[in-house]
Amino acid sequence: MSKRKIIVTSALPYANGDIHLGHLVEYVQTDFWVRYQKLRGNDCVYVCADDTHGTPVMIRARKEGVSPEDLIARMHAIHLKDFTDFQVNFDNYYSTNSPENREFSERFFAAMEKSGGITRKTSPQLYCENCRMFLPDRFVKGTCPKCGAEGQYGDSCDHCGSTYGAEELGNPKCTTCGSTPVVRDSEHLYFELEPQHDYLEKWIPAHTTSDVSNKLLEWFSEPLRGWCISRDAPYFGFEIPGHQGKFFYVWVDAPIGYLASLKNWCEKNGQKFEDWWQDPNAERYHFIGKDIIRFHCLFWPGMLHVAGLEQPNKIFVHGFLTVNGEKMSKSKGTFVNARTYLDHLPPEALRYYYAAKLGPTTDDMDLNLADFVQRVNSDLVGKITNIASRSAQMLHKRLGGKLATLAGHDEELALLARLRDGGETIARHYEDRRFSQVVVETCRLADAANEYFDRKEPWKTVKTDAEAARVTLTAALNAFRILAIYLKPILPAYADRAMRLFGESAWTWESRDTAVEGVTLGEYEYLASRIEAKQVEAMVAAATVKPADSGEVAHESRASKNKARAAAPLKEEIAFPDFDKLDLRVGVVESCEIVPKSSKLLKFVLDAGSLGKRTIFSGIRQAYPEPEKLVGKEVVFVANLAPRKMSVGVSEGMILFAGEPGVGGGAVSPTSAAGPGASVT
Ligand code: 2FM
Ligand code: ZN
Repeated sequence: MSKRKIIVTSALPYANGDIHLGHLVEYVQTDFWVRYQKLRGNDCVYVCADDTHGTPVMIRARKEGVSPEDLIARMHAIHLKDFTDFQVNFDNYYSTNSPENREFSERFFAAMEKSGGITRKTSPQLYCENCRMFLPDRFVKGTCPKCGAEGQYGDSCDHCGSTYGAEELGNPKCTTCGSTPVVRDSEHLYFELEPQHDYLEKWIPAHTTSDVSNKLLEWFSEPLRGWCISRDAPYFGFEIPGHQGKFFYVWVDAPIGYLASLKNWCEKNGQKFEDWWQDPNAERYHFIGKDIIRFHCLFWPGMLHVAGLEQPNKIFVHGFLTVNGEKMSKSKGTFVNARTYLDHLPPEALRYYYAAKLGPTTDDMDLNLADFVQRVNSDLVGKITNIASRSAQMLHKRLGGKLATLAGHDEELALLARLRDGGETIARHYEDRRFSQVVVETCRLADAANEYFDRKEPWKTVKTDAEAARVTLTAALNAFRILAIYLKPILPAYADRAMRLFGESAWTWESRDTAVEGVTLGEYEYLASRIEAKQVEAMVAAATVKPADSGEVAHESRASKNKARAAAPLKEEIAFPDFDKLDLRVGVVESCEIVPKSSKLLKFVLDAGSLGKRTIFSGIRQAYPEPEKLVGKEVVFVANLAPRKMSVGVSEGMILFAGEPGVGGGAVSPTSAAGPGASVT
């Protein structure tokens, strides 16, 4: 069969946030599929990028006092490290804030205009005069115009499910600064889809599964609505040529980012973009989650169509991740970032478990943490790896590590033939993204190998008939080798370790056709180890975001104060010697009480170890209405701050407090009028 030329993408993660286990459902399965294609010798290129544009990146950069470019550069490095550590192997991991992407975006826009597909409409929008920006739907909260529920976003109500325009909200507030926005008219550009009604109505069912297309086709009974593709300045993104102060909406240049990343890969690899994306024989696939179907199955094909570019062959849509049967939750510790997972558990365990649960449907996938531990230990370690560890160690210890030759040993040859035959089914499962079936089938073959091993009892024969034992161990090890080849797309690093055991330097799918015989086996290196429930517990504990220890009101006030402080510009940079002047120590709160007649102050007595006791007044009472709960806690304090005489007593230092996580990038500042005491947002 001739080599296929395949381009594969995963959705571009927002540069604004961390990669978490939900994201990984997609990257890991795309990686399985790409690695499988490569193992089969196909020319497959896997491209991705950070999705960098839009308001959230802009706001976060502002809060941190850095430029959006610096923020996205930092996030790019963090994302790539997370992916690499999870063994997700992109051929190119780029950025939508790239020259290639700007060029493509402008090209698309010119084609949209040329096709007559761009219209203009003026509509009322909420504008925050304090932040000096139009507020995107998710940056305004107020009362639902339908049911009256409070605290609802500008696009839809969580309570009654209705959708509306942000300007319809009652008592709207800017979520960034808390002020009341005003209504202002703004003109926007729309990409009209109705001219492509018939084209898209045919395209969708041919390129998606029926559950996906049925949902989309519901909209086709009416004229298709235009899509607003512009956003007002200030906006971190690409300005629209000929439309000063208007920027491409992030969802315009995000899918174009697939092409930009591919083009960038081509440039780095002496290839031409046209020979890839535009090759009529090439195949193009997008892996996405079911929340972004509209963008990939409606707007994107519409854009490609007017631009005269090739369409993806298929959009592979997956479901969401649940953990222990529920939506991921920060307070339950089940909203786990990639890095938090990696701090506690091996990446291969998750890759294996995800594979065992993934299929080509939009069904949600559950990570049941108890089942996760159990499956990894019983199947990957107990069933598959055990074949290699038992056999290799016995061969080394008792038989000098030398493998037998299997010619003439019919039973052994039949076992290996059976495992090779099983590969045909496994290959079909991989191709069709039935990864759970790949695992089922591989485990079934592992059962056959284990059954053979147990029946042959090499631990006995090694004492009575060494050569018979050598044959058994050789067959078992070669059976394991075939299984490891089958699992290579799912467990690439594991497979590499297995490969080194056999003294080989590269495996293809066809490597399973030959056996390794008559040579000395390499040293046995650890392949996979059992995971423990306590590792999972530690991960969950690390991921748990505690609700504020204070009441709701105090929490609100702290959060908004924190936000206000976080929005403040950074103070002047200091040199290390300045920082080094601070003597930070840890103390234990011995007592903590309200200071009478002060609404802000708490009086702390710290046990400061060798420094003795310290009395410190802190202006954080609003955030800690129950000060006694702080007793016994360890706090960091500035121990060499000059004592300060206050009306209520002398304060001998300053305590640094940590607020609730999630309000990142805040400042520590000496609290206020109230006197020494500091809080960290
Ligand atoms: O939903 C998201 O996370 C988007 N950043 C996905 C973009 S995918 C593509 F269109 F770029
Ligand atoms: Zn505002």
